Amino acid sequence: MDPIVLVHGGSGYIPASRVPLKIAGCKKAVLEGYKVFEKGGSSLDAVEAAVRVMEDDPAFNAGYGSVLNIDGEIEMDASIMTGNNLRAGAVTIVKDVAHPISLARLVMEKTKHVLLGGEGCKKFAIKHGVQILPPGALVTEQAKQVLEYYKEFGGDFTEIGSNNKKGEVGTVGAVAIDSNGLLSVATSTGGISGKLPGRCSDTSQIGAGSYADNCNGVVSTTGHGEAIAQFCLAHAIIKAIESGKTAQKATTDCIETLTKHFNKTAGAITLSKSGDVGIHFSSKSMAWAYRLKHELHYGVERDQHEIEKLQN
Ligand code: GLY
Repeated sequence: MDPIVLVHGGSGYIPASRVPLKIAGCKKAVLEGYKVFEKGGSSLDAVEAAVRVMEDDPAFNAGYGSVLNIDGEIEMDASIMTGNNLRAGAVTIVKDVAHPISLARLVMEKTKHVLLGGEGCKKFAIKHGVQILPPGALVTEQAKQVLEYYKEFGGDFTEIGSNNKKGEVGTVGAVAIDSNGLLSVATSTGGISGKLPGRCSDTSQIGAGSYADNCNGVVSTTGHGEAIAQFCLAHAIIKAIESGKTAQKATTDCIETLTKHFNKTAGAITLSKSGDVGIHFSSKSMAWAYRLKHELHYGVERDQHEIEKLQN
């Protein structure tokens, strides 16, 4: 089995000035994730490493650079899952933690629960040595501007036909398969700008934001969280693969059905258990990239698929 790491940097509207940042960030995340395989790590280690890179990168709405709720605060969600035993961990409404994805992995590995949030999650983080940053440390000027725009003009940029050109995109994610055929997924987000404090997104919900099942495939989703959660998008794509669709057809069909039903946009990245790739988004843009053997594939607009040859 040839290992693959595939990432997305969020579906939505990406202003032209920020496209190069998104592409560069996705490529960097893929290459860091893939390095894990070269050191003998699993797909679980690879997706966590890839998402940590994007959580550190202010070009993305996750970790540092997360969007702000209506009170001007960051509240982040993340989930992680591995497909051999359907083990999963997730966190919600996380504040002042640089890498919510690693906290989600701790929930998976150190507790008997799937989802932790609120004060209990913070206590759990501290107990396991996770650094709590000073309030505001993850807030960027970009996030403040996006909130100001939202307060002035409102509007939902994930709605079909929306004129909101500042909504930007939400969520980062990675899916991977390693040489043993293990499938894993990691997804992390700052959510939606101007959200109510306490809002939990699809990204924290297993089956909506993330799903991995070694018998079928693995999915990370992005886009309008409420639509994705109600549609259980990640799990819907897995079920479509189980019914005989390719990873690409399952991803395209489920996203188009969701978009038609809710009038909201979404995107997803998928790998089948045999390593077929599925990438689709109903938004204007979604940065994505993957590495397979010595090729780096990437794109951001519809029907864009670039391939770069790697030296080693
Ligand atoms: N899909 C990310 C969010 O709605 O927060």
